[in-house]
Amino acid sequence: MSKVALVTGANRGIGFAIACELAKRGLRVLAGVRSSERAAEAAANFTKAGVSVMPVVLDVADAATIPEVLARAAVASAPIDVLVNNAAIMIDGPGGFDASLFEMTDDVLRRTWETNVLGPAATMRALVPGMIARGYGRVVNLSSRAGQMSGMWRGFPAYRASKAALNALTRIAAAEVETSGADVKINVCSPGWVRTEMGGTEAERSPGQGAETPVWLATLDRDGPNGGFFEDKKPLAW
Ligand SMILES: NC(=O)c1ccc[n+]([C@@H]2O[C@H](COP(=O)([O-])OP(=O)(O)OC[C@H]3O[C@@H](n4cnc5c(N)ncnc54)[C@H](OP(=O)(O)O)[C@@H]3O)[C@@H](O)[C@H]2O)c1
Repeated sequence: MSKVALVTGANRGIGFAIACELAKRGLRVLAGVRSSERAAEAAANFTKAGVSVMPVVLDVADAATIPEVLARAAVASAPIDVLVNNAAIMIDGPGGFDASLFEMTDDVLRRTWETNVLGPAATMRALVPGMIARGYGRVVNLSSRAGQMSGMWRGFPAYRASKAALNALTRIAAAEVETSGADVKINVCSPGWVRTEMGGTEAERSPGQGAETPVWLATLDRDGPNGGFFEDKKPLAW
């Protein structure tokens, strides 16, 4: 029986590339998209890409709806074995590199954390206990070098802090599953600098290249890592 994967924010960018690659590897893939209009558009784009991927309307900023949406998706397909928390926003503004923490509004901080932190926390909460109970699961959280505490610097305050928080959540969740004895692995990664709406046109990598490490972590063998931070399939400093 093929594994079932959910990729959030999969209608474009790195999420789209991850969903396509997992489908090519034989997983049954659910693509989280935040509205029904985007679901229809995404379905057409997956067909055009030659893969079978099913869109599921899932707004990760609406954490209260996540348990019900995922429970329904699991009934329609099968329990979800692989979760890729890819959806994120970076709304620190066009001058993000110079954006000041002292000028940041609560609205920017709150909206960033709802999508980038509370969303992944809610999807993990909804899915990881079932993975532990069934004895298998893979969770991949998409973070960034921007979230490295060892390289923390000014700029993009809401986004950077949200990714550092996601890194912390990953470590905590991984430590919890470690003691369960189940073959469940929770890791976080940086995709590198990727040509997407978020990364911009100057970025060095294609979405397919950005998807390589997340796909590797989503398909790890039993002897693979748990609780790590990776880029290019190699450990990255926290
Ligand atoms: N690109 C880079 O250089 C880079 C570098 C480091 C880390 N990353 C990380 O890699 C991941 C993917 O980035 P990307 O470059 O592909 O970003 P992107 O092009 O901006 O795409 C983001 C995706 O997330 C979705 N999304 C945003 N808010 C959502 C919500 N509330 N519910 C559901 N989906 C939502 C977007 O959907 P809509 O179409 O509806 O907006 C879109 O599909 C992110 O976690 C990002 O932080 C990217």
